[in-house]
Amino acid sequence: MNTSPAPANLMEAIVSLAKRRGFVFPSSEIYGGLNGFFDYGPLGVELKKNIRDCWWADMVRRRDDIVGIETSIIMHPKVWQASGHVAGFTDPLVDCKVSKQRYRADQLFFSPVVVDGSVVGYVSALESDRTAEDLQERAESLKRKRAIQGRLEPVLVRDLTEAKPEEIVLIPSPATGEPGSLTPPRAFNMMFETYVGALRDDSAVSYLRPETAQGMFVDFKSVVDTGRVKLPFGIAQIGRSFRNEITPRNFIFRSREFEQMEMEYFIHEDADWAKAHREWIDWCKGWLRSIGLPDSHLSEYDHPKEKLAFYSRGTTDIMFKYPFGVQELWGIAARGSYDLTQHANASGVPQVIFDEASKKKFTPHVIEPAVGVDRIFLAVLCAGYAEEEVKDEQGKVEKRTVLRLSPRIAPVKVAVLPLLKNKPELVAVAQALYRKLQRRYAVFYDEGGAIGRRYRRQDEIGTPWCVTIDFETIEKDGSFTLRERDSMAQRRIGEAELFALLDAQVF
Ligand code: GAP
Repeated sequence: MNTSPAPANLMEAIVSLAKRRGFVFPSSEIYGGLNGFFDYGPLGVELKKNIRDCWWADMVRRRDDIVGIETSIIMHPKVWQASGHVAGFTDPLVDCKVSKQRYRADQLFFSPVVVDGSVVGYVSALESDRTAEDLQERAESLKRKRAIQGRLEPVLVRDLTEAKPEEIVLIPSPATGEPGSLTPPRAFNMMFETYVGALRDDSAVSYLRPETAQGMFVDFKSVVDTGRVKLPFGIAQIGRSFRNEITPRNFIFRSREFEQMEMEYFIHEDADWAKAHREWIDWCKGWLRSIGLPDSHLSEYDHPKEKLAFYSRGTTDIMFKYPFGVQELWGIAARGSYDLTQHANASGVPQVIFDEASKKKFTPHVIEPAVGVDRIFLAVLCAGYAEEEVKDEQGKVEKRTVLRLSPRIAPVKVAVLPLLKNKPELVAVAQALYRKLQRRYAVFYDEGGAIGRRYRRQDEIGTPWCVTIDFETIEKDGSFTLRERDSMAQRRIGEAELFALLDAQVF
């Protein structure tokens, strides 16, 4: 039976578990934390590393058509001019002049309050999975408070980027609840600036990269010149990116320092880009399933044609059902030859490839699947977290918290537990098995407390299996009890079988 908390409490439960069990901490916590920055604790780094390693193995090592690179975080500032980031990597920012709060205009919603066909005021609400309901409730409350008679019309949900100047002054600030303090939206560039070298003038301005993708475009020629690739082929990279987000939120979902896994798949200029795009969307969904995300939580969102950049052929986001709403997890964009052409024009270095098959030199087109490690991390916690009522060994009902993580990414693959810690013969066998397993897998050794309690501790951090060394192990055939996290079923298993099980399910 699954008695998992309601979505609002689910996020609270996940944030609390993440802190309590050492997955994620607020950054610089002893100084009060720094909004939009997080640290990963001992279990968090393992989980994050496993997500990265699985992606790298499947995306790069197990494919013949994709190679990996690692480029610097700070690149020549001209990279960001050519890519369009200096001029256009902006979000619409709205200030509240009274509270000094800042909002993203496309995440701040409003509606006129219309009674019997006349506008009697405005209401506002921040983006959530119940924005429309919030606006409606506020409209009803405004009508009630001002004792206005008549029929209230349903709210019209629009965001602040759609507000007319004369409306802005009438829309209440979410901070004060009063109109008159919100500024019109203005473009806010999200790149973090820094200075390279000893001088602190305009000539030394550079940027922390806001995406890893440009590294692949800028190194395209170097990769082609090493001669290992022919079309179609991809260049992949995992690394940190930095964005001065106006409103970092939802824990690690939107932060200011995060990690991306991006791949640029170069195709012939005459290739069927729509087919390649579709294949990559399917590949990405299949990969998410392979690390345990259920289909029921995944969906697709096609960006409307009229909202795409002029060079873009199409962008589809794989969406995930987070507790705070269905949100973008992985974007797959068909970008034509825009990026390479921009860098060719700005650098003067042609970004072309000679294609043996067509005997032509041209700038290839690209399909770009781009995903955030931290968003996957949060998705697997959200999909895997459950609270259940189960019976303990005495038949008493108790709560068990369990993280159903795929063995591929679970931070600990198996816990080794001697039944009793004061029996040296059990401890010696358990220690020997633990050391043997440790050479290949992340394993945990725990001899403290009742066995049931030790199982619960492992359930809570997502360990798929526990093995218990008991008297049968030393007195009979060396077999031990394998206890399975999800079903809690137990069976006897030998060492060879355990290694085979791990080998089949972990990699
Ligand atoms: N090169 C294309 C690109 O960077 P994006 O949609 O801006 O596209 C790709 O980012 C992915 O990176 C997103 O789908 C998301 O998973 C992740 N991401 C973007 N901004 C993020 C943030 N502030 N915090 C955490 N992850 C983020």
